[in-house]
Amino acid sequence: MPDLSVVVDGLRLPNPFIIASGPPGTNANVIGKAFDENWGAVICKTVSLDASKVVNVAPRYARMRAEGSKEVIGWENIELISDRSFETWEDEFKKIKDQYPDRVLIASVMEECNKNAWTEIIERCQACGVDAFELNFSCPHGMPERKMGSAMGQNPELLEEVCSWVKAATNRPVWAKMTPNITHIVDPARAALRGGSTGVAAINTILSVMGINLDTLRPEPTVEGYSVPGGYSCKAVRPIALRMVMELAQMMYGNELAEAEFPDRSISAIGGVESGDDAAQFILLGASTVQVCTGVMIHGYSLAGRMCDELGRFMDKHGFSSIEDFRGHALKFFTTHADLVARQAQAKAEKKQTKEGMVTKDTAWEGDKFVEQSSRLVSNDDD
Ligand SMILES: Cc1cc2nc3c(=O)[nH]c(=O)nc-3n(C[C@H](O)[C@H](O)[C@H](O)COP(=O)(O)O)c2cc1C
Repeated sequence: MPDLSVVVDGLRLPNPFIIASGPPGTNANVIGKAFDENWGAVICKTVSLDASKVVNVAPRYARMRAEGSKEVIGWENIELISDRSFETWEDEFKKIKDQYPDRVLIASVMEECNKNAWTEIIERCQACGVDAFELNFSCPHGMPERKMGSAMGQNPELLEEVCSWVKAATNRPVWAKMTPNITHIVDPARAALRGGSTGVAAINTILSVMGINLDTLRPEPTVEGYSVPGGYSCKAVRPIALRMVMELAQMMYGNELAEAEFPDRSISAIGGVESGDDAAQFILLGASTVQVCTGVMIHGYSLAGRMCDELGRFMDKHGFSSIEDFRGHALKFFTTHADLVARQAQAKAEKKQTKEGMVTKDTAWEGDKFVEQSSRLVSNDDD
């Protein structure tokens, strides 16, 4: 079995699979379950200092199934951040770190745009022993009304400032979780990294309306007949997440098209991951770790074991012995459309010449066709 362990921003994980912030990390019991099932790390449900302002509704999810099948491919939620008190979270962080001292616990935090509030939440979480932070700049519903979540994540200047407050309050790794509900995800990411964040996490959910019920003529998910746009996740968002992670990696690590701007910062990829092969694709684009939320809600915590086996098989197949062996490998194969056209024209010309029996590369010379091949390259005589 290849080595699946990862060292990222000084954190040591047994494998790259992380529970993403959401219901699968919503209290000490389920976080313990995730560690027992060998998840590489857990990011808790987003916490804030004053949970009394967080009031959830039920139902708050809506699912999209593949046509003619039970398979869930899309998931919308209108869930807010944690509605449990910060004091309860402080107790649970301590309890979890006592029980699992060697495992990586990451606190997802969100606050209003106020330096004292961000400093306080970081310092209090840190005092409970959490290993790192994820800053939720990306919740698309409910919180933007309080200028939190994606309202902050869509404002690069604000983001840079908040990241600098957080970095001043802690030496532990800090990942800025980016919203996909923006035209150019690299702009806020660059600002967060300039502000000092150790890495970026992407993506949070995509703003969506799951559908309109054709019997009731009301939108879903329906609460007392009414709804609000929510956050879309699960398999259906994976291609969008891959594109956004590719853009972030290109900006941070560089490729043929771009200079590397932040070569030593990390990416934690999120969006529609349910298998080791899904995860391998994000790692091939440059991610060091891969987070899963909806996949756990559909398949349960044992998903980690299955994904580790699948990722191990992928690595065996290609002879990779560690995650670093293939991280970012696919990034160099992204280019411009004009370059695709030029490459295709060149390939066509070479194919035509080869079809006509002309040697276009030195590797094409063959011993028993040598004289004929030489002759075909002659232009001034038809013999
Ligand atoms: C029900 C639900 C609740 C979520 N709550 C949070 C949250 O509190 N904080 C956060 O940063 N992201 C939250 N997310 C977003 C996920 O962490 C993740 O970014 C997104 O769902 C895409 O990944 P997935 O396709 O693996 O679910 C939530 C997602 C779902 C489905």
